[in-house]
Amino acid sequence: MEGKKPTIIAVANQKGGVGKTVTVVNLAAALAELGNKVLCIDIDPQGNLSDYLGYDFDNNSHTVADVMKGTCHLSNCIVFNEAENIYYVPVDITLATADLFLAQTMCREQVLRHAIVTDEEIDKFDYILIDCLPSLGILLTNALAVADGVIIPVQMQKFALNGIVQFEDIFNLVKENINPKLRIFGILETMTERTAMSKEIDKVLNNRYNDLVFGTKISRRIEAANSTAERISLVSKKSSTIGDQYRQLAQEILNKEAAPNGV
Ligand SMILES: Nc1ncnc2c1ncn2[C@@H]1O[C@H](COP(=O)(O)OP(=O)(O)OP(=O)(O)O)[C@@H](O)[C@H]1O
Ligand SMILES: [Mg+2]
Repeated sequence: MEGKKPTIIAVANQKGGVGKTVTVVNLAAALAELGNKVLCIDIDPQGNLSDYLGYDFDNNSHTVADVMKGTCHLSNCIVFNEAENIYYVPVDITLATADLFLAQTMCREQVLRHAIVTDEEIDKFDYILIDCLPSLGILLTNALAVADGVIIPVQMQKFALNGIVQFEDIFNLVKENINPKLRIFGILETMTERTAMSKEIDKVLNNRYNDLVFGTKISRRIEAANSTAERISLVSKKSSTIGDQYRQLAQEILNKEAAPNGV
């Protein structure tokens, strides 16, 4: 009998600095704390996730860029962060030229999908979280082509929804042509504050996405900014408001998955 496949979640928004990477690391740590085996894949050539998880960029190990170039299996790139109990696939800057090296590749939107589904080692994971880069290109379509769903972090600031229409267009194209199971797992409000602007965007999001807006919100707190610099998730800190919020998000995702209609 075929075993349970991992649930694959792409954390995506083409707007930069909205909390994608902080969400991937802390949600991964929270899911791991609940007993899940979690793999994060960094497909942002900036490498912020790899850096957050303590990757040594000088050690020349294989990265997701090699996987996308077809020279390495995904499972051969996995690094374990013991402190966080998270596995991850690092990236290197050469992935920035993916448009060029994938240009001649057949089914170039499905290279990551192929790497994941043909690698039996990857089936051992319960969750795979993909940290996307802030743009709408071939790397985003690769993430959407393999994901069961997306989490879209939205920063509660002016212009928060600029570009969301273009994102939805790409999402729909991938869903119609490559990956019919693709869905929005949820819109995640990040860096919320007690301001009129935060309330206004919350209202707009609820009108547009209704039930898809997560009940869990992530507050704006300096500890989040410090955690990326310190390379320690907030979930693994003893007492952290943001860590608790990401725990709550993990629980909300598990509850949705257990519900009759799934996430
Ligand atoms: N809840 C929060 N409160 C305060 N600062 C935060 C919060 N979440 C993230 N940050 C900070 O905001 C910045 C952007 O966060 P992050 O890197 O997660 O965003 P991103 O969407 O991944 O960015 P990019 O688009 O560049 O990949 C970082 O410096 C991070 O430490
Ligand atoms: Mg990022």
